[in-house]
Amino acid sequence: MSQPIRVLFVCLGNICRSPLAEVVVKAEAEEKGLSEVFHFESAGTGNWHVGGSADPRSASKALDKGLSLEHHRAQQITQRNIEDWDIFVAMDSDNQRNLIALGAKPEQVLMMRAYEDLDLAPDVPDPYYGGAHGFEDAYQMLKNNAQGLLDDLMENHVR
Ligand code: 4NP
Repeated sequence: MSQPIRVLFVCLGNICRSPLAEVVVKAEAEEKGLSEVFHFESAGTGNWHVGGSADPRSASKALDKGLSLEHHRAQQITQRNIEDWDIFVAMDSDNQRNLIALGAKPEQVLMMRAYEDLDLAPDVPDPYYGGAHGFEDAYQMLKNNAQGLLDDLMENHVR
């Protein structure tokens, strides 16, 4: 078996969106028998929460959906560790721009919401400063795009 494809979900703080994306897509990959094909983690472009737990609102949303963020510890993506990853999945266009500035190749950076029909910018909006509904909205966006993302990864990024 070849090495798993290393996929990093990226947001700003790595406590709200990208940890939830990681467990949603990981669960879907497990369901499809793809656990061995991918290694999933998540990280933030910012350093404020490094070493800390997931935001309690994301953790409780995960639990509601039968997932767990209990063991999540926030980490940062930097110029120094960018080469550890094959593919990045950005939650929004700021994350996408920051990843490219850190040295990711544009073709390595996928957008989380690229797999649904959208008129507006394909972002998972940051729920950090909003109410609880923002976390349900984020979960639905992640869930709605998980299968499309896995199909894209399988078709275009598995060597
Ligand atoms: P996330 O949300 O990028 O989805 O993890 C945020 C979490 C923390 C901050 C911003 C966004 N912050 O400014 O501390």
